[in-house]
Amino acid sequence: MDSQLIFQDETEMKRLIVQNSLLSYYEKPILKALFDSRKDITVLDVGCNDGAKTVERFSSPSVSKVIGLEFNQKLVQKAQEQYGDKRFYFFRLDAEDDSFTLSLRKIMKEENIECFDVIYLSFLLMHLKDVEKYLTSLRPFLKKDGKILIIEADDSNSKLNGDGGGLLGDFLSILKKDKYAGNREVGKNIIQTLKKCGYHDITVHYDAISASKDEKEKKEAIFTTFFSYLREDVSILLSQEPTNLEYKSWKKWLESNYTALKNLVMDEESDISMGMKILTCSKEDSDA
Ligand SMILES: C[S@@+](CC[C@H](N)C(=O)[O-])C[C@H]1O[C@@H](n2cnc3c(N)ncnc32)[C@H](O)[C@@H]1O
Repeated sequence: MDSQLIFQDETEMKRLIVQNSLLSYYEKPILKALFDSRKDITVLDVGCNDGAKTVERFSSPSVSKVIGLEFNQKLVQKAQEQYGDKRFYFFRLDAEDDSFTLSLRKIMKEENIECFDVIYLSFLLMHLKDVEKYLTSLRPFLKKDGKILIIEADDSNSKLNGDGGGLLGDFLSILKKDKYAGNREVGKNIIQTLKKCGYHDITVHYDAISASKDEKEKKEAIFTTFFSYLREDVSILLSQEPTNLEYKSWKKWLESNYTALKNLVMDEESDISMGMKILTCSKEDSDA
């Protein structure tokens, strides 16, 4: 928990709204294809935050039941109070707790769910200590023909043209060390990890979120989504450890370069592409 902020702070909630609407363009066709090919769909959303995105993504008439899991009690409470109904249920559960599978089975029994058609893992794996262990533990919960939809950052695949000063590289190297930003390279290794964990039929739908030249609004959304939170993180880190020299150097870098980086992203001549794996997979047939 020490390595994560409580995703409740107002600025972060606003950033998540921008991020969700930016990503919806990429996710919607994938979800539509899933919804169109099935009915009475059951969904598991792990790391569902305050439930807003869960409800927005899974309100299709083809979906009959959605279980949202989140380890932050206040967020779960908010989700359940605001959106809990016959179709959407939100529970407090830590994905990495030893009792996770047992607790999930109990919830499923209460809700009359045998297995899930769709398991949605959006920016969750980056916050886990052992991604392989977790993905393996999820396998029995996926239907034979079910799909996991994963969305994870892959900073190794991010590019900004015209960045002669290496601002993007500097920014990403700070982010890599920011303990609140999660593991920004889960996306880079996710295909190998999934294969190791007994998944196949892996389809990478997108490997980056991009905006070119005069796509001003999209660039703005990309900047908010991928860049805006480092300043918040650094100010929190410094409030916790005011004498930490590395955090001080990050603050200094941001003071000198943040605006220049934003201007470069927004420049009419620039193309920006932020590495992001959006993929689906199934489990191997050998599973029950
Ligand atoms: C980066 S946010 C992503 C939220 C949402 N899935 C989205 O795509 O906008 C990660 C979420 O996962 C939750 N989370 C992180 N680790 C968790 C764990 N071990 N068990 C359950 N939820 C967790 C966090 O509290 C947070 O709400």
